[in-house]
Amino acid sequence: RKYTEEELYRPKFHFTPKQNWMNDPNGMFYLNGNYHLFFQHYPDSAVWGPMHWGHAISTDLVAWKEQPIALYPDEKGYIFSGSAVVDINNTSGFSSGSEKPVIAMFTYHDPKLEKEGKIDYQSQGIAYSLDEGITWAKYLGNPVIKNPGIKDFRDPKISWDTIHNQWVLVLAAGDKSMFYSSKNLKDWKYLSNFGKDIGAHGGVWECPDFFPMTVDGTNEIKWVLIQSIVSGGPNGGTGTQYFVGDFNGKSFILDPFFKKDLVNENVFWIDYGRDNYAGVTWSNMPEKDGRKLFLGWMSNWEYAEKVPTNKWRSSMTIVRELKLVKNDDHYRITSQPVKEINNYISKSIKKGDFNVEGETVLITKPELDFSSLDIHFKIKDLQKDIYTFSFFNAVGDSLKFGVNNKEKFFFLDRMKSGNISFSDKFAPIISIAPIKEELKNIDIRVLLDKTSIEIFYNNGKTVMTELFFPKKPIEAFSAKSENFNIEFEGMTINQLKFD
Ligand code: FRU
Repeated sequence: RKYTEEELYRPKFHFTPKQNWMNDPNGMFYLNGNYHLFFQHYPDSAVWGPMHWGHAISTDLVAWKEQPIALYPDEKGYIFSGSAVVDINNTSGFSSGSEKPVIAMFTYHDPKLEKEGKIDYQSQGIAYSLDEGITWAKYLGNPVIKNPGIKDFRDPKISWDTIHNQWVLVLAAGDKSMFYSSKNLKDWKYLSNFGKDIGAHGGVWECPDFFPMTVDGTNEIKWVLIQSIVSGGPNGGTGTQYFVGDFNGKSFILDPFFKKDLVNENVFWIDYGRDNYAGVTWSNMPEKDGRKLFLGWMSNWEYAEKVPTNKWRSSMTIVRELKLVKNDDHYRITSQPVKEINNYISKSIKKGDFNVEGETVLITKPELDFSSLDIHFKIKDLQKDIYTFSFFNAVGDSLKFGVNNKEKFFFLDRMKSGNISFSDKFAPIISIAPIKEELKNIDIRVLLDKTSIEIFYNNGKTVMTELFFPKKPIEAFSAKSENFNIEFEGMTINQLKFD
């Protein structure tokens, strides 16, 4: 049987545009029961082009409804990545009635200046909406931040800093992040910069985010800087690193313990898979909710324009809840799928403790539909062995992942996962993530959609997200070890259902 592109590759529960090109998530905010997601969008082709902001709305962070395009390019340029906030107190003065203005800040990318060889072709502009983000008007005084003579100067992320009572903005400027503050979202004052000599610098910095977080289970507050990088990611191409420190209202200062870890390890990645880029967090989450929610673009600039979907290109990751955890003075960010995904469970298979030896098939298709699964299991008594899990079909495609507890790394191997030939950058090697501690047991959660896998090890301490394009749908799941039994301590397989 021949499958259509739609049947085989359109994700079931990851946002994709109905048609044509999408990259970074932009301007996410919450207001009156709706989660808004905007995105870099080229509505005329399935490859990158003059950027617009597409728009989608969800009431549960899982099911999205695409909306009309929110922002179009204009005479000042394309609309590059940025953010949005609900200006609850109308500090911007854009509202003259009772509506709460929503302010979007984005980068104007002027292709004419770029063509002329100028370096100052990126500046920051704002737009406002008085109808909860549906229609937008650009501010006549744009740009609100002119280019100071920096070639890559983009992706403003704004938020209300409740600690210092100011709007704070972070943007990416080549090899560093730059911070600004404002009282009205129109007049911005430069504060400081960070990062020139620290962290990963395999390519320019892009799409930062900056926010305070309470250390899980304590009252301690730390500031987190998320900073995507266009090349030199953990397994090649794009990737997203983070830093933990303090903010005095002007400068971001690395936490001394985190700095020590950074000197030892060089960089901390939000995700070690190859397909989670330019992720940022939601603005204006209701206080009683209190979650820090993150979403990334599930692709990689090394091959994003070549993946074998022609009607649309790219999807987003599942929305994730970020936590800042601290163990023995080590600060780390963890990510977990949002709990709302549980509302889509249509069938649940629970297995108790069991052991397997050699290669063992654990689930097959008649029992479950592999186009949308949430699998959660634990293994105890880990040995110095290689534990391999595999999703496969009858035509020989297999997607493998697991734990190499001999050489101490997690791995994700899509080299035989189906169609990989569209780009020699797609699957040249197996992706890995270091294991930095003694592992006696492990907790593994896997979200499987038609073309993506998201793996959360040990409650999201290490995450690996990647795409794959099987020639036929996946039909089975197996486990294998080399020398020792695999001692499962329970397994839950949730079938998810979306209409
Ligand atoms: C990141 C990025 C941003 C830029 C946008 C353009 O993927 O390069 O830096 O604003 O994409 O679409």
